[in-house]
Amino acid sequence: MKIFGSFLALATAMNNGVARTPPMGWLAWERFRCNTDCKTFPDTCIGENLFMEQAERLVKDGWSAVGYDLVHIDDCWPLRDRVDGKITADPARFPHGIKWLAEQIHGKGLKLGIYGDMGTHTCGGFPGSMGYEKVDANMFAEWGIDMLKYDGCYSNDDQQKIGYPAMSQALNNTGRPIIYSCSWPAYQGGLPPQVNYTLLGEICNVWRNYGDIQDDWDDILDISKWWGDHADVLVKAAGPGKWNDPDMLIGGNYALTVNQAQVQFGIWSIVAAPLFLSTDLRTMSKEMRDVYQNTAVIAVNQVSD
Ligand SMILES: *[C@@H]1O[C@H](CO)[C@@H](O)[C@H](O)[C@H]1NC(C)=O
Ligand SMILES: *[C@@H]1O[C@H](CO)[C@@H](O)[C@H](O)[C@H]1NC(C)=O
Repeated sequence: MKIFGSFLALATAMNNGVARTPPMGWLAWERFRCNTDCKTFPDTCIGENLFMEQAERLVKDGWSAVGYDLVHIDDCWPLRDRVDGKITADPARFPHGIKWLAEQIHGKGLKLGIYGDMGTHTCGGFPGSMGYEKVDANMFAEWGIDMLKYDGCYSNDDQQKIGYPAMSQALNNTGRPIIYSCSWPAYQGGLPPQVNYTLLGEICNVWRNYGDIQDDWDDILDISKWWGDHADVLVKAAGPGKWNDPDMLIGGNYALTVNQAQVQFGIWSIVAAPLFLSTDLRTMSKEMRDVYQNTAVIAVNQVSD
């Protein structure tokens, strides 16, 4: 990886200076999905409580010390409609708002990621950013957001060609370095000629190439096989500031044994994937923690130029 890293550093990458190594942290989706019912599920619904508690665990259980420093919100955080033209966090679930949450997270020495969608709606039916790129990027920057996962539901090929570069430019215009994760190639089948990896590397820091990971060992085999089959394309596409993303780490949930989690972690590290845990850190076993806090494996993933 070191050889590839040095070589690829010469190629053009998105010029925002972030994600020089694959981003690491915790992302809500695979484990917590779109549970907005905080009355019935106060501990696991998508609300500020969940993000505050996972952030606390990242610090207290030694995660941030080995590099897992991003707390990442996924879909289903806002109200169903814009308020005064702005995407608005559901005040019942985020009573203090996202800016406050970012301040709290930053106060712990961590970063905050948020989710948007380049179409008319997010996959869960919440407001998308099509036509609102400037407004939304400015709002994310003003809140102190450090990473944007930008999904592609409710958009077509032609709209994606405009929308993904438009958000990249809008983020750049804010002046705040924000890691930009594009789901674009996953909506284009993941491979050339539909996917132009040269262009992606110029406008995105991270991109999801393939379908959403599920809590299932067979899915890890399927994703790994796809990565192996297309290594010729994928290896060339990646480098400092621009990474392929096979999706989240799922150990600590219901499907994987500790050994299976080690296999996923090993493969993800070798392919220089972003390392986002998606599990409940409050209940993760010591054995599972040890898998993902293995600094020798993390070092394979975090080779920089
Ligand atoms: C915006 O793009 C310019 C030109 O590529 C670059 O020099 C600058 O660092 C970028 N700024 C941010 C905040 O991404
Ligand atoms: C891919 O994108 C690059 C960079 O924007 C561009 O120079 C090149 O012509 C594109 N390739 C194709 C096949 O469209």
